Amino acid sequence: MVCLGNICRSPIAEGVLQSKVNSDLVYVDSAGTAAYHVGNAPDKRSIDIAFKYNINLKNQKARKFSVIDFENFDTIYAMDESNYQDILKLAKTNAHTAKVKLILNEVNPHSNQSVPDPYYGGSQGFEKVYVMLEKACSIIAEKLQNDR
Ligand code: 4NP
Repeated sequence: MVCLGNICRSPIAEGVLQSKVNSDLVYVDSAGTAAYHVGNAPDKRSIDIAFKYNINLKNQKARKFSVIDFENFDTIYAMDESNYQDILKLAKTNAHTAKVKLILNEVNPHSNQSVPDPYYGGSQGFEKVYVMLEKACSIIAEKLQNDR
């Protein structure tokens, strides 16, 4: 799960998907394309909205997306078009490129919609983001279940 800062959107996506899969079988992580917040906990507004739905984000720590992630993960979900392009710039092979997806295309295939960046807005934006990611992660978890 990849966004810009790894403190607002992708920590929610990580927490929500993690809550829907068997952790013995599926490894979920998140990262940011920018390094501004490396080492920081998620934004309090993300922690609060997730807590409202019984998901704990407090143990997460921001890290920067790395080219090694193309090897370590089967699928890389970008939150928005800008993250998507930044990740693709780091891809070295067609296999890497094929792993990168816009997360909301799981909900509305080929629509290329972005999860809006809630950082500069109020808590309503975080609620909206949460609902979008909950929907996307339900679909992803179901697909992972069917893949087994
Ligand atoms: P995120 O949100 O990419 O969902 O973690 C942001 C967090 C921080 C900044 C921008 C977006 N920032 O500019 O510091």
